[in-house]
Amino acid sequence: VAVLPIVKEGAAILRQRAKPVERVTKRIEKLVADMFETMHKVDGVGLAAPQVGAPLRVIVIADGERPLVLLNPEIVSSGGQETDLEGCLSIPGRIGYVTRAAEVVVRGADRRGKPAEIKGTGRLARALQHEIDHLDGILFLDRADEVWERKEAEEQA
Ligand code: NI
Repeated sequence: VAVLPIVKEGAAILRQRAKPVERVTKRIEKLVADMFETMHKVDGVGLAAPQVGAPLRVIVIADGERPLVLLNPEIVSSGGQETDLEGCLSIPGRIGYVTRAAEVVVRGADRRGKPAEIKGTGRLARALQHEIDHLDGILFLDRADEVWERKEAEEQA
């Protein structure tokens, strides 16, 4: 298990559409393990595979004590609206208010490739949307009304 370098804004991979995971291979298992290790090391709330240089549709989220992994996640329904501060591990030093759905249902596959469905509200809903955006080459900067330099450490994804 390795801590991977985090790709920063400006890199082409952050602007590309990531490819679906077809099969859970050893390489995917290692990628997921490395993504968790990396997320914990940098104290992030979520991480998408393109942020560690892998153009694949894989996200991990630190949802309390429960490690959450989704392969090929898709938002199948959403509701409400909530505006809150966001940061991103790939965009250090900047934060902004982003309006997102307050509640989402996401379908994909778990780390073994079995169908999985996650319902998220609040911060989990936000993290899911932020990470899934990464898989489509979208950064929070694109959705924020205003972006500014951050003084203190904020949660980053
Ligand atoms: Ni991010």
